[in-house]
Amino acid sequence: MNKFLFSCCLSLSAAAAFSQQKTFTVNTAQVGAAIQPTMYGVFFEDINMGADGGIYAELVKNRSFEFNNPLMGWTINGKKEEGDLLVLNSPAYNKANPNYIRVKVNHRRKGEWGLTNEGFRGMGIRAGVNYTLSLQYRTAQPGITIHGELVNAAGKVIGSASFSPAGTNGNWQTKSLSFTAAAQDTTAKLTLWLEGDGVIDLDMISLFPGDTWKNRPKGLRADMVQMLADMKPGFIRFPGGCIVEGRDLANRFQWKKTLGPIENRELIINRWNTEFNHRLTPDYYQSFGLGFFEYFQLAEDIGAAPLPILNCGMACQFNTAELAPMEELQPYIQDALDLVEFANGPATSTWGKVRADMGHPEPFHLTMIGVGNENWGPQYIERARAFAAALKAKHPEIKLVFSSGTDPNGPRFDYLNDTLRKMNADFIDEHYYRSPEWFLSNAARYDQYPRTGSKVFAGEYAAHEGKDFTGAERNTLRAAIAEAAFLTGLERNADVVHMASYAPLFAHAAAWQWAPDLIWVNNLQVVGTPSYQVQKLYSLNKGTNVLPLLSDGKPVTGQDSLYASAVIDQHKKEIIVKLVNVSQQPVSGKIALQGKNNLAKTAVLTTLSGNDPVAVNNFSAQPIVPVDREVVVSKQSVALTLAPNSLQVLRVKFK
Ligand code: AHR
Repeated sequence: MNKFLFSCCLSLSAAAAFSQQKTFTVNTAQVGAAIQPTMYGVFFEDINMGADGGIYAELVKNRSFEFNNPLMGWTINGKKEEGDLLVLNSPAYNKANPNYIRVKVNHRRKGEWGLTNEGFRGMGIRAGVNYTLSLQYRTAQPGITIHGELVNAAGKVIGSASFSPAGTNGNWQTKSLSFTAAAQDTTAKLTLWLEGDGVIDLDMISLFPGDTWKNRPKGLRADMVQMLADMKPGFIRFPGGCIVEGRDLANRFQWKKTLGPIENRELIINRWNTEFNHRLTPDYYQSFGLGFFEYFQLAEDIGAAPLPILNCGMACQFNTAELAPMEELQPYIQDALDLVEFANGPATSTWGKVRADMGHPEPFHLTMIGVGNENWGPQYIERARAFAAALKAKHPEIKLVFSSGTDPNGPRFDYLNDTLRKMNADFIDEHYYRSPEWFLSNAARYDQYPRTGSKVFAGEYAAHEGKDFTGAERNTLRAAIAEAAFLTGLERNADVVHMASYAPLFAHAAAWQWAPDLIWVNNLQVVGTPSYQVQKLYSLNKGTNVLPLLSDGKPVTGQDSLYASAVIDQHKKEIIVKLVNVSQQPVSGKIALQGKNNLAKTAVLTTLSGNDPVAVNNFSAQPIVPVDREVVVSKQSVALTLAPNSLQVLRVKFK
């Protein structure tokens, strides 16, 4: 359905709604199912330059010359002479990252010969922030001075530092230089000028800002992490997504290779580099500077339960569909067992010691592991059973998440869902990338689900506009409001649904492959989409228990374009009602709060709305943000007008 038709349909049904006042009755005394602390979380995958070029604050692209084209991202300035720059490949030097460059400098003055790194679509630089340029070097013949210069888009130097490496007796050394940027720029570049006469080997040429999250050296972009922290997510699922599977097994995500010193983390191509012909991203690799230690640390920082997803011996079934034979599955299972020890084991255990040596002797409190991403078929079930047998025998305390494939219905889904329920899976991970209309018509999806047995993890979802919307324009208010309507159904069924996360999380505006996304970034800015605002409102107002909410004696699941749910927060002593109006007309309503008679006299109503259903938030304007106002609670009820295209969250305190 095109944009116009969809709007018309909503308007027609809304006209009926406007003619009458709706009453929503919440029974505040009938405290129902517990809402899990994990209910609303986030799903992080290195897609759309979410990690390298995104949250991982490294500004130099291809710092260790390991891309398939070892000089991708670098340009040579000045006259080229035979043999003045060589790429050496030495597994004896570093098995994980064997490449480095050898530079011969012949009577050069500063500015005559140098190397420029273009960054990830440029480098985002902030004025007044301290930057650390670091590199590894080995002088074969001393006599060179290295001048590092940060240059803005207009060619002006906005920060610099120099040093003259002494002889190193054939040993590699590390050097760090700091400087403060004099000006802001979104597309700066780093140039190293080599002056003098000599021969030097260089590797791991790196530039980080000092203002990372928690000021950790070589850490994460603070503004991006803050967006996650602000949501107070119940869990963080990582590192994917399809990158867990890899296009082939050789390029699957292997967590053990993402630990320890960053120069020893083996770089691989990012599967999203070549996934979509219309969005090829030839410079997309995984350096694993954001590795499993950092993922666990991030989870801890933002108060989210870690949910790592592991490869189950299957490469992406849309790509090569390679399988590890069952008789060779043990190393994959061992990775899962070792991960529990890495996260939770004592600092004296083999893997606990790795964690402790990286600076975290305390456990990371891992309680869940995902077995595979979007895997399907009997071959998945066979492997899932093997993982479950081994993990449950050794770690019955760890809950396991299993895949229900790529779609929320159809024979593939039915087979997996039925089989996994018979296997008594702890969680079944459902994915739905569907139209806004699908989300509206599935708001009651979980009303009919079994109340016992496996719990649902809505692990990846997003309402997708049609193909005439591209990139960040796909993150419309209408899509977000459809998701909000759907979430009333998840909340109402909190005994069945224990976790939910939108996908994907981040997209770099100049390097994305997949849209819509929850948060758009460029090199200096972050933007929460309307969907981000919806997720955040649900997460910050999740409550502790479900309350029944009825209109005309029925749950509100789309009648007159309205959707609603209610919860109680027993800790904060609040009744929280969520109301969604997907029509383009205002609807006048009354919320009757039956039961408790010790309610506050006023309440806070937060509204997320906009007149234009295809409105978006972008880097220059964010019209779709929640607005709070005080409303009166009179005779245990609140009168309000539900704005068009809106999510309203009403919070009423009680004694
Ligand atoms: O979120 C983007 C991709 O969608 C994920 O990698 C995958 O699990 C799904 O197909």
